[in-house]
Amino acid sequence: MKTVGVIGAGQMGAGIAQVSAQAGYRVLLSDVDQARAEKGKAGIAKLLTRAVEREKITADDRDAALGRIECVGGVEAMADCDLVIEAATEKEAIKRQIFENVGRVLSDTAILASNTSSIPITRLAQASPDPARFMGVHFFNPVPVMGLIELIRGLATANATVDVVEAFGRSLGKEIVHANDAPGFIVNRVLLPMLNEACFALGEGVATIRDIDTAVKLGLNHPMGPLTLADFIGLDTCLDICRVLFEGTGDPKFRPAPLLVKYVEAGWVGKKCGRGFYDWTGPEPVPTR
Ligand code: 3HC
Repeated sequence: MKTVGVIGAGQMGAGIAQVSAQAGYRVLLSDVDQARAEKGKAGIAKLLTRAVEREKITADDRDAALGRIECVGGVEAMADCDLVIEAATEKEAIKRQIFENVGRVLSDTAILASNTSSIPITRLAQASPDPARFMGVHFFNPVPVMGLIELIRGLATANATVDVVEAFGRSLGKEIVHANDAPGFIVNRVLLPMLNEACFALGEGVATIRDIDTAVKLGLNHPMGPLTLADFIGLDTCLDICRVLFEGTGDPKFRPAPLLVKYVEAGWVGKKCGRGFYDWTGPEPVPTR
C-alpha cells in the first residue's frame, strides 16, 4: 500500500492524515473544498512544528511528512488511492453521498473505510461500490497520541480487506482491536454512558462542572474529567452516539441526558465552537455554571 486518501480534514481526518504521512504513506487529503483541506494541513504543520520544538522529531521529519500530504478539493483525485478513509461529519446522509462520489473513481482493488464512531458498518456498506472492500476503522482523538484503532467488519466485509487494514493500522504504530458491528462498537459503548451520566449528574445538581470533572479525574485517575472530555469530543457527536446506542439497543439506560440535548440545541457544542460545559475562548477552560 502506498497512497492513502483521507476525506474530511477536521480534527479526526487531519490526525489520520498526519499519522499516515509520518508512517511514510503518500496522503491525499480532501474536504468540501481545497481551502478546508489546506486548513487541515496547516493544523498538522503546527502540531509537527511543536513536536520539532520539543525535540520529538527533527525538522527534516516534519518537512518530509508535510511533503507527503497533498490537499485536494474533491474526491475525484482519489483514483490513485489504495485505501480511502472517510472521516467526514457524523451524518449518515453525508457519508453515503461521499461513498457514492468516491465510488465512481475508486480502483477495483482499493479499500474504502469509514471512521464512523457509531453508524452501523453493514448499512453504510450499501452505499459503497463493493461491500466486500468496505469496513469501519475507528481512530481516537487526538489521533497522534491515542494508541488504538477499532476495526469493525460489516456482514459482507472480506477477510482480505480486514487483513490489509489491520496491517495498515499496525504500520501506524497503533494497537488493533476487532469489534462486531454493534451500536457504539467497544469504546463508545463503554464511554458514552459515563459521559451521559455526568450530564445527568450536572443537570440534577449533584455537583458543579469543576467538581464532577475533578472527582472523576482524581478519583478514577482518568486523564480528563467527563465534561471536559465531552467538550473535547463535541457535545453534538456525544449526543449522536447516545442516540445511536439508544435507538440501536432500545435500552433506556442509553437515553440522552436532557441537559446534553439542551446544550446541543443552544449550539454550545464544546471546544470546537468555543463553548460547551466550559468556555474555551481564554487561555484556560472556564466552567460555565
Ligand atoms: N494533537 C496531537 N497531539 C496532542 C494533542 C492533539 N490535539 N493534544 C495533546 N497532544 C500531545 C502533546 O503534544 C503532548 O505530547 P508530548 O508528550 O510528546 O509532548 C501529549 O499529547 C500530552 O499533552 P499535554 O501534556 O498537553 O496534555 P495532557 O497530558 O493533559 O494530555 C491528552 C492531553 C492526551 C488529550 C489527555 O488529556 C488524554 O488522553 N485525554 C483523554 C483523551 C480521550 O479519551 N480520547 C478518546 C476520546 S473518544 C474518541 O475519540 C472516540 C470518538 O468516536 C468519540
